[in-house]
Amino acid sequence: MWISLISYPESGMSGSHGNYTHSVNFSTRMSTNPITGADDMVLLTNCELQSRVKELAQQINFDYRDKGEIVVIGVLKGAFMFFSDLVKHLTIDIVVDFIQVESYEGTESTGNVELRHQPTVNIRGKHVLLVEDILDTGITLSNVFVFLSLHDPASVRVVVLLDKPARRQAQVKADYTGFKIENRFVYGYGLDYKQRFRHLSEVRTIK
Ligand code: XMP
Ligand code: MG
Repeated sequence: MWISLISYPESGMSGSHGNYTHSVNFSTRMSTNPITGADDMVLLTNCELQSRVKELAQQINFDYRDKGEIVVIGVLKGAFMFFSDLVKHLTIDIVVDFIQVESYEGTESTGNVELRHQPTVNIRGKHVLLVEDILDTGITLSNVFVFLSLHDPASVRVVVLLDKPARRQAQVKADYTGFKIENRFVYGYGLDYKQRFRHLSEVRTIK
């Protein structure tokens, strides 16, 4: 069985990062979960993640090269690993902050987004870059947008590692996307299954 992971830069530089499709043959990705020993699959290896994260950072560096100080806000908890890898490649002037929202129970969104931690940096008049692990129904990001816009930022752009367009409910689009994936529940590299497996260095999915 094959799955297509479409990796595509959406804005900014032209030419140097053309669109491409990355296909994964599942039979070569079978693997046991290192924690549970259960059969699962590696959807994105750490090597694949690192090279795409670097490309995203290069695009962001270019797009924000003359914008002054940028407030980069990570959405906890899922984005923590993507966030830390991404900012290491940023050469623009940034300050970092975090927001924490929760909407998931197990593998399903409750649709009810609760704010658990708000950023402490003043974003009024600032360019904000939101860093999120996955865009799924879009309910989380649309709520975070509403919250941030109450604080009058100059602009808000979003970078997501993964985009699962099949389940979209809210009208929201990322400005920068790592990988577009099929409708599968994924975990690892910051993403959890019932709060577990966030520390795995690759993105995995159940077989
Ligand atoms: P929505 O549906 O609001 O989802 O766009 C965004 C948030 O839901 C979590 N999410 C997932 N977490 N595996 C996960 O571990 C998944 O496949 C998945 N899909 C959505 C995630 O926290 C994200 O911030
Ligand atoms: Mg999240």
